[in-house]
Amino acid sequence: MRIILGIGGGIAAYKAAMLLRLFTEQGHDVVPMPTRSALRFVGEPTWEALSGHPVNTSVFEDVESVNHVRQAERADLVVVAPATADLMARVVGGRADDLLSATILTATCPVVFAPAMHTQMWENPATRRNVAQLREDGYTVIDPAVGRLTGHDSGAGRLPDPREIYRRALAAASSAGAALPDLTGCRLVVTAGGTREALDPVRYLGNRSSGKQGIAIAQAAADLGASVELILAHTEVSAPEGSEKLRIRRVSSALELENAVGEALGDGRSVDGVIMTAAVADFRPRSVAVSKIKKDPSADDAPTLELVRNPDILRGLVEAKSRGEHGAFLVGFAAETGSEDHTVAELGESKLVSKGADMLVVNEVGTDLVFGQDQTAATILVREAEEIRSEAVVGTKIDLARRLMTRVASHLNIGSRTARG
Ligand code: CTP
Repeated sequence: MRIILGIGGGIAAYKAAMLLRLFTEQGHDVVPMPTRSALRFVGEPTWEALSGHPVNTSVFEDVESVNHVRQAERADLVVVAPATADLMARVVGGRADDLLSATILTATCPVVFAPAMHTQMWENPATRRNVAQLREDGYTVIDPAVGRLTGHDSGAGRLPDPREIYRRALAAASSAGAALPDLTGCRLVVTAGGTREALDPVRYLGNRSSGKQGIAIAQAAADLGASVELILAHTEVSAPEGSEKLRIRRVSSALELENAVGEALGDGRSVDGVIMTAAVADFRPRSVAVSKIKKDPSADDAPTLELVRNPDILRGLVEAKSRGEHGAFLVGFAAETGSEDHTVAELGESKLVSKGADMLVVNEVGTDLVFGQDQTAATILVREAEEIRSEAVVGTKIDLARRLMTRVASHLNIGSRTARG
């Protein structure tokens, strides 16, 4: 995503540098746009070094490119942090007297303000009116945090934690009235849940996949008109009801799942996409005991499990596609934590390349960006010609399902309908 980061002239400007890093670490291209007074708090070199973009403050710089129009047209999101009382007042008044205000006036993408100021300024009726007007005009204004302010005072007016701004900004971008695709006539296969590999009639090797994300994808696709076959392994949640648009086939092990995907693809000509959300076990016991494995009461030893590799179903689909056996668009899922050397986006990109899928959804796990079971933080990575494009989505699993369907539809060349979500 291309993000314009507007920085107002307040002491909290230094926190915007951390916000910029959060965005770039997730693979976003950030164009910093400080106001002239913001540069008195944090100078140009910081913004330029962190973003890799030159800094302009006036519409009279870089005039030949009509910079404010060019920047606004190319942006997917504008985030203003800190948003000062003066900057918000100027936007409410429709002013365009510097590059940032002119860009905001031109932008048609979501614009998010994260205000920061002293409590008296935040509570002043003029600021209250301006914030209410901004919200009425369709902008997102995040309420400031309560806490220590610049001096010895404390109260409402503190810039929220950059992670909170990050989360709210991406949520605004992903739910911002995007046109939803009409998937009527489209056939999709979605796998969900976790496989179980039997050890004996009562025991198995399994995983913690809840199945929620895959079910949300299958339902979102069916709601948008697609005919969906949901191949459902084990879930923590109850399975959705089947319908004319949503057929459900239950499976247990990786081999059963592979077989079901193969059957759903049939002759391979009629399925448009396969979305592999299922958590498939990479290994299974070499043999399954026909009766319950018993312990020997006279001995302390324990049996050793011998495992064999399960097929990599997604890789098999990629190979079959390259042999021309089907033409389905292939989407994989991966769970990653960033490391010291690699961001989640980088790990995802190398997995997209090594798996050979057309698209990969990388779930960021193990950070406080994932709130609760229904929330998710993910990056959709897609191959476009020689490039890998990325889009971060923070929101509910349904938000991610809808974004994913929109991206899949655009790659299947399916147009949008006018419904807004
Ligand atoms: N997958 C599959 N068959 C398997 C294992 C995984 O089709 N035997 C699919 C999953 O459905 C998912 C993707 O491959 O779409 C996940 O890829 P994988 O590399 O197995 O993911 P991780 O578990 O993240 O891998 P690793 O632990 O090796 O990083």
